[in-house]
Amino acid sequence: MRTLLIAGNWKLNPTTTEAAVALAEGVKTGLGTATDVHVAVAPPFVFLGQVDGVLEGSPIGLSAQDMYWENSGAFTGEVSGCMLVDVGCTHVILGHSERRHGMGETSEVVNKKLKAALEAKLIPIVCIGETKEERLGEQTEAVLLEQLSGSLAGLSPEQAAGVVLAYEPVWAIGTGLTATPEQAQAAHAFIRGWLAKVFGEATAARVVVQYGGSVKPDNAVQLLGCPDIDGALVGGASLKASDFLAIIKAGQ
Ligand code: G3P
Repeated sequence: MRTLLIAGNWKLNPTTTEAAVALAEGVKTGLGTATDVHVAVAPPFVFLGQVDGVLEGSPIGLSAQDMYWENSGAFTGEVSGCMLVDVGCTHVILGHSERRHGMGETSEVVNKKLKAALEAKLIPIVCIGETKEERLGEQTEAVLLEQLSGSLAGLSPEQAAGVVLAYEPVWAIGTGLTATPEQAQAAHAFIRGWLAKVFGEATAARVVVQYGGSVKPDNAVQLLGCPDIDGALVGGASLKASDFLAIIKAGQ
């Protein structure tokens, strides 16, 4: 009923056009033209155009890592949804923890961006997740609740069904620590329960909820085998085509 989405968040990598093109070529060649799962890569803004050229003819989606909520105007340094669509983007990551925690992005800001992304017909990947302190303080569900209700405020069930959520426990990002399949499944089940309460069972059953946080070829099968885990948002391991392809294979 839900198709898995495996997406590679390249973050602030690689540092040259040549390397970005080579990485995209590696994923495209390794994947071929047919895949049972949805796949996307999210390079830095400056490489989106070139990577889009590489991905032509492949089923791989192109994602940005952020966007602004206005389409144009006096907003120095920002990039809008219509610009992303113009360079070939299909997806956009919103509210990544590195933006929530490193750049002070609130759920209210994520909500504005989310509405603009839906307006631009981009598939939004909205990230949520608790820090280590919050988990140890048994605040995980309260944090998820705030981030879900704030980020998805005002959406209709139909709009919510088109949102991809990524549960990324902050303590598992780039640390080599992965949530156990049990911990991840419990958080995903909580998220789906919230979706059902707010948008209805039918909508909740349609929403793709990815897991992110040190997903690697050797833990992907177990994580992706959980009933409420519908894919992965991959950081470090998406920078090596062979690792990313192995994670995609684990989802097939
Ligand atoms: O968005 C992906 C992410 O934050 C996970 O990063 O390096 O732990 O796979 P990583």
